[in-house]
Amino acid sequence: MNIDLRGAMRTFATGVCVMTTYLDEATGRRHDGLTVNSLTSVSLDPPMVSVCLRHDSAFLADLLKTKVWALSILDVGAADIASEFAKSRDVRAAVLRTVSATPGKRTGALVLDSPGWLECRLQTHLPAGDHVIAIGDVVATGTQKRRPPLVFLNGAYQAIT
Ligand SMILES: Cc1cc2nc3c(=O)[nH]c(=O)nc-3n(C[C@H](O)[C@H](O)[C@H](O)COP(=O)(O)O)c2cc1C
Repeated sequence: MNIDLRGAMRTFATGVCVMTTYLDEATGRRHDGLTVNSLTSVSLDPPMVSVCLRHDSAFLADLLKTKVWALSILDVGAADIASEFAKSRDVRAAVLRTVSATPGKRTGALVLDSPGWLECRLQTHLPAGDHVIAIGDVVATGTQKRRPPLVFLNGAYQAIT
């Protein structure tokens, strides 16, 4: 049987997040941000979420050392931001310096000005094929009134109408 997971999953509409973490280096704190749509709410009590990251991801390597991250859920006006945070690490670092973002109070990971955000602390991680599932305790959340969320469907950013 022909397995076309990518083709099937294209029909599954998701929200879009910018996930942030950082690494403390001799020269200071180096932040990174990544576009992800694999966010899943895992448990409400205690509050936990999961995100799947490519196993060879530079972002994942930082995350496994620092053990914290933030997730900012993007609104419909943030398609350009989503595109930029899916590019190379250098591009992402430059974009991160231009977006409106503040360090989360519980983790220090950058939180973007967005309709909803979470701060997470790594609980566990497990390899799964070519990805790693990072499961985190949610240590802070926030919401604010904004435009409708950005949706990813059929390989493109979409607006809910
Ligand atoms: C809409 C969208 C959703 C994405 N979701 C994920 C995701 O859930 N996990 C992931 O590892 N990469 C995801 N990516 C790809 C990353 O944003 C990025 O291109 C890549 O993983 C960078 O890896 P690096 O840390 O090695 O530089 C997504 C890209 C797009 C455009």
